[in-house]
Amino acid sequence: MTNDDLAQILETSDGWIKSRTGIERRHIAGPGETTAQMAIEASRAALRVADVDPRDIDLVIVGTVTPNHIFPATACQVQDALGAVRAGAFDLNAVCSGFVYALVTGHQAIASGEHRLVLVVGADTMTKMVDWKDRSTCVLFGDGAAAVLLRASEGSAGVLATLLGSDGSGGDLLTVPAGGSAIPVSAETVERGLHYLRMDGQGVFRFATRVMAQATEQVVKKAGLKMQDIDLIIPHQANLRIISTAAKRLKLPMDRFVVNLQEYGNTSAASVPIGLCEAVESGRINSGQNLVLVSFGSGLTWAAVALRWGVTPSKAISPKYRIWWRWLLYRWAAIHRWLRQAPRRLMVRIIRTAEKQNGH
Ligand code: ACO
Repeated sequence: MTNDDLAQILETSDGWIKSRTGIERRHIAGPGETTAQMAIEASRAALRVADVDPRDIDLVIVGTVTPNHIFPATACQVQDALGAVRAGAFDLNAVCSGFVYALVTGHQAIASGEHRLVLVVGADTMTKMVDWKDRSTCVLFGDGAAAVLLRASEGSAGVLATLLGSDGSGGDLLTVPAGGSAIPVSAETVERGLHYLRMDGQGVFRFATRVMAQATEQVVKKAGLKMQDIDLIIPHQANLRIISTAAKRLKLPMDRFVVNLQEYGNTSAASVPIGLCEAVESGRINSGQNLVLVSFGSGLTWAAVALRWGVTPSKAISPKYRIWWRWLLYRWAAIHRWLRQAPRRLMVRIIRTAEKQNGH
């Protein structure tokens, strides 16, 4: 959906959106398209690129605030659809920082020695939570998903330093007021539009411009590096002005930052991994380079990771027979799900019929 498309349904313009945010278009999930579906697609793509058997995955973490359901976790649906039969799975809610928080959590799970292979996904369908009549928020967001696989390794590449932050006092700056235990769903909450995302744009802007530069500086220092040692920064894609303010504060040129928000808008937890994947695919990231991933979001939350890139994915594309093998595993996962669900459903039906016959 382009800015001009939006201008057809709202009092806004391409000029306003572009000059205030840098966004030119965003991608919207179709009516039946869910966060889980996008997360599954992204995960399968990651498994293909890394040439990994889904049965080897130990843990699935999905950073999301737009899960398919409040529960079960979307990560469980991803685990099931992949046939990752040995894996634990959970969703992580840190809003736009969700992927970087999940990456840190996955890294720690490996560093503890408990797990060897962790699938980390960032996926959100924010366009299903915005009020399409509110021009101050709906123009900012798009939908997306991206995934990475973390593997234990003895090499010198990998995560160098991590940083997580939170300031709950700013929770009111960006929130979906109803639907939780504070304000449960009711006809009134629906009528008053309390299930839509609400934001104090300027408050978030001030917080974001401060925290993005600060978190980057802190994680680089923690990694024992200098800012000049960083080849590429992949920031959360919320607003071009936020990224350029961070660049100025860090005294770095803009070409040191990945910027793709003109194409996708703010995809929440998916924004950093989409930027990472695109930079890898375009050859902008090479083995041995130092990267910083940095994000901020509602909570308030922020997170940063300094890492040394150590793989060359273009050489790691799966051979054909492995692609077919995984395809078979995914079909088997669907059959397996059916085989487990069918007896449970049949049993419920038998019990209900028996109860009816006994007059209960
Ligand atoms: N089209 C035209 N006019 C608009 C639009 C629009 N889409 N939206 C707002 N306006 C108007 C306002 O009504 C206001 O008009 P007024 O002066 O007559 O009242 C005027 O434009 C200026 O509005 P501001 O809110 O002051 O605009 P600002 O320059 O602050 O930009 C923006 C707004 C883009 C939202 C900016 O504040 C921002 O990017 N904030 C950060 C938001 C963000 O990053 N959120 C995501 C966080 S990550 C997560 O957790 C999801």
